[in-house]
Amino acid sequence: MSTPKVDFANWPYPRHVAHRGAGKLAPENTLAAFRHGASFGYRMFEFDVKLSGDGKPVLMHDATLDRTTSGHGRVDALTLGEIAALDAGSWHSPAFAGEPVPTLAAIARYTRANDLLVNIEIKPVPGDEYRTGAAVALDALSLWAGAAVPPLLSSFSEAALEAAREAAPDLPRALLVKTLPTDWLDRLARLGCVGLDANHGELDANVIQQAHTAGYKVLCYTVNDPARAAELFGWGLDTLITDAVDRIAPA
Ligand code: G3P
Ligand code: MG
Repeated sequence: MSTPKVDFANWPYPRHVAHRGAGKLAPENTLAAFRHGASFGYRMFEFDVKLSGDGKPVLMHDATLDRTTSGHGRVDALTLGEIAALDAGSWHSPAFAGEPVPTLAAIARYTRANDLLVNIEIKPVPGDEYRTGAAVALDALSLWAGAAVPPLLSSFSEAALEAAREAAPDLPRALLVKTLPTDWLDRLARLGCVGLDANHGELDANVIQQAHTAGYKVLCYTVNDPARAAELFGWGLDTLITDAVDRIAPA
């Protein structure tokens, strides 16, 4: 499977990315959320992926099923077949009852058919970092084969990013950070990342300038205040991840 070479200096991703599909307006990490986000003009979607017990990439934020599905316990205690039978919508509101947990394959089908771009956050259950990074990257490589703009992989887990790099070196990676480590530039270089994806509170004009000078793009999460978004873009931010798909209009 081959991925066309993309010039990441000429950033191929939009300035605005919908967080978990449609933020809080629809059940996170479901196809219903993507459709809702797309209805506000969003063209790129961030979502969280981990592995089922039988090693299949599924969309799920938490390590356990309890908050966002009708299931219980760890995600990797169930097979894909068992996860597919869960209700991932009723917890949000009755209108979404019966919404399933999507596979990465289902999201690839939907987004590619609708010319939408993706940011796959690799979010392993604890202890499964390396296996998840490799499996998600390999699946993404095949699911997005031939796409003009490849999925952007990101993770807080450096082990997952290392595994993704070994499995699919040409898929772009961004390092997620909640707190900016002092050696962040070294970490980006070591992991072969195209960008830094930081908690927005860690950013200022100087950090963004340093990243750009070193040849990296800067993304941040999760900005829901339009004034704060404007401030970050004023400092040169490249891409912003938001829940506020109804209040922050995509460029
Ligand atoms: O990918 C950015 C953001 O989604 C990271 O935080 O907890 O919402 O996955 P979280
Ligand atoms: Mg996420």
